[in-house]
Amino acid sequence: MVSKNRTPCSGTDTVLSHVMLPLHTNHYGSIHGAVILGFIDEVAFVAATRLTGKNVVLAAVNHASFDHPVKVGSLLTLRANISSIGHTSVKLKVTFEAEDLKTKKTLRIGSADLVMVAVDPKGRPTKIGR
Ligand SMILES: CC(C)(COP(=O)(O)OP(=O)(O)OC[C@H]1O[C@@H](n2cnc3c(N)ncnc32)[C@H](O)[C@@H]1OP(=O)(O)O)[C@@H](O)C(=O)NCCC(=O)NCCS
Repeated sequence: MVSKNRTPCSGTDTVLSHVMLPLHTNHYGSIHGAVILGFIDEVAFVAATRLTGKNVVLAAVNHASFDHPVKVGSLLTLRANISSIGHTSVKLKVTFEAEDLKTKKTLRIGSADLVMVAVDPKGRPTKIGR
């Protein structure tokens, strides 16, 4: 759903991939959720910065779900898509999947909804030019 001050947008995906290494895991070999949350923030940051051409900050993570564990050695690919554009904020949906590099099988892991806000050099919300 799109609120009245928001412009629906079918923006181009921004895609980032990371190989999941032992440094990303807990002690039983699956990837920490906090690590994936960091990558979610990263891909949303890239997409919002590209869109606005301004500094952006993360205002909210309204939803995040993880439907399967991610194994070490897999390639995690995250896609950020602009859902809507407000006066100073951008709503994004991030989806992410894990690929077993040997078998090339991919598994959709989950999704997240975020809000990024464009800010001026003093950190105050600033209008997104369109
Ligand atoms: C995000 C931030 C700049 C908003 O400042 P603010 O003065 O509260 O902003 P406003 O109330 O004027 O809202 C500005 C926009 O942000 C949106 N917004 C602010 N907080 C939001 C929230 N929690 N959820 C969703 N949208 C939010 C508003 O809807 C508004 O959107 P619009 O202009 O497109 O209509 C400020 O809270 C901030 O600096 N937060 C810290 C950000 C940060 O450092 N993040 C990294 C992790 S700590």
